[in-house]
Amino acid sequence: MPPPKSLHILILGSGGREHALLNACMASPLTASVAVAPGNAGMVGAASCHALDLDDIPATVALARELRVNFVIVGPDAPLASGVVDALAAAGILAYGPARAGARLEGSKTYAKDFLLRHRIPTAHGEKFADPALALAYLRTRPLPVVVKASGLAAGKGVIIAPTLSDAERAVRALMEERVFGASGDEILIEDFMDGEEASIMLMVSGRRYVMLPPSQDHKRVGDGDTGPNTGGMGAYAPANVVTSDVERRIVSEIIEPTLDALATEGIDYRGTLYIGIMVTRDGPKVVEFNARFGDPECQVLLPLLETDPLQLMHACARGELNPGDVRFKNGATVIITLAATGYPGTPRKGDRIVLPEILPEGTQIIHAGTCRDATGNLVTNGGRVLGAFAHGATLPEAVQRAYALVAQIHFDGMHCRGDIAARQLNRPVPSR
Ligand SMILES: Nc1ncnc2c1ncn2[C@@H]1O[C@H](COP(=O)(O)OP(=O)(O)OP(=O)(O)O)[C@@H](O)[C@H]1O
Ligand SMILES: [Mg+2]
Repeated sequence: MPPPKSLHILILGSGGREHALLNACMASPLTASVAVAPGNAGMVGAASCHALDLDDIPATVALARELRVNFVIVGPDAPLASGVVDALAAAGILAYGPARAGARLEGSKTYAKDFLLRHRIPTAHGEKFADPALALAYLRTRPLPVVVKASGLAAGKGVIIAPTLSDAERAVRALMEERVFGASGDEILIEDFMDGEEASIMLMVSGRRYVMLPPSQDHKRVGDGDTGPNTGGMGAYAPANVVTSDVERRIVSEIIEPTLDALATEGIDYRGTLYIGIMVTRDGPKVVEFNARFGDPECQVLLPLLETDPLQLMHACARGELNPGDVRFKNGATVIITLAATGYPGTPRKGDRIVLPEILPEGTQIIHAGTCRDATGNLVTNGGRVLGAFAHGATLPEAVQRAYALVAQIHFDGMHCRGDIAARQLNRPVPSR
């Protein structure tokens, strides 16, 4: 373990996830200083914030050098896929997050599907296409609904679940011919639909060793009862008991162990978060997708459940020296509710004044995402997902009640949130975990 107050940290990103990462760093005895690039208004004060184009890898390395940091935590997916961790390593700077080879599990859905099928890890059957005519022909052979995915990164919007053949054909044309996601749709994946309930499994990985964080559940749709368009995530809670101990055992033996073995076999020394999107189907758990970073908003509910210092774990993963046996978790449950701007998930309106409470309800915290200061210093909205109302409680109902009590004290014009975060679990007849 590094000595106390020895880490000079740079966090890359600007959302709620990165605010939660900053909070974890601030609470750690290992932290000497924290910088964030680009950051948001809620991070100012705790950290120095620096303008940065996260797609510009040389500029990122230059900033890390200039700030003389000795540890970088990469929040979002795009810099990982572009090899920011490789570039930092070449400059002698340790970073948390997989190198480019590992990040392909998220950056290329066709690569991930080939990987899963090659290693016989449970997932939906799928095939990749670079030729729209072949893709359209294949569609006619598949059962409905069918799932059409842009292979590359598409900010969570490149997946279409098509109930009819003509919807599926339209999706193929939009991705491959109209190129609505540019090069991300030049290759597509067509896969069979999996019926079931989803859960997010987040691992902190160091080669063949890993820590599994409690299962969590995200809420992708904008509206109550899972209605309306997809978003980056309207809320999350943990632990999610859709992952019963039996399902968890199967996830470990049928998915996690084979995945880490397969990475090792293929010569990929994965270090960082591996997020496995799981569908709990009647035939058992199956992989929906991999992500190479913490989920946002799942990160916000998971880090506070760690009794062990998350920064210590990230640093150990990055060094390749993780000791999973030592890791401890807190009791209770956590919830985060996303407060979104009017227009979201379309184009959000910006610049609305935000009013926050002076005193927070017990067990709660405000997480900033799309916030900034206007010319006169007022806190205003600056993105689609503006804030997160976080709460920890002894039980899930207590955490949910606390989080909504916090929501009631926050205001900005056009603010909207879901009223049913965690309802699935609250309404489940017998908690099975
Ligand atoms: N084969 C499938 N069967 C059923 N639902 C699916 C399937 N594939 C994807 N989905 C649904 O679509 C969502 C998005 O798919 P996926 O996770 O592959 O895309 P993504 O854009 O990478 O998402 P994220 O932003 O969470 O990383 C999933 O969370 C799931 O709800
Ligand atoms: Mg993904």
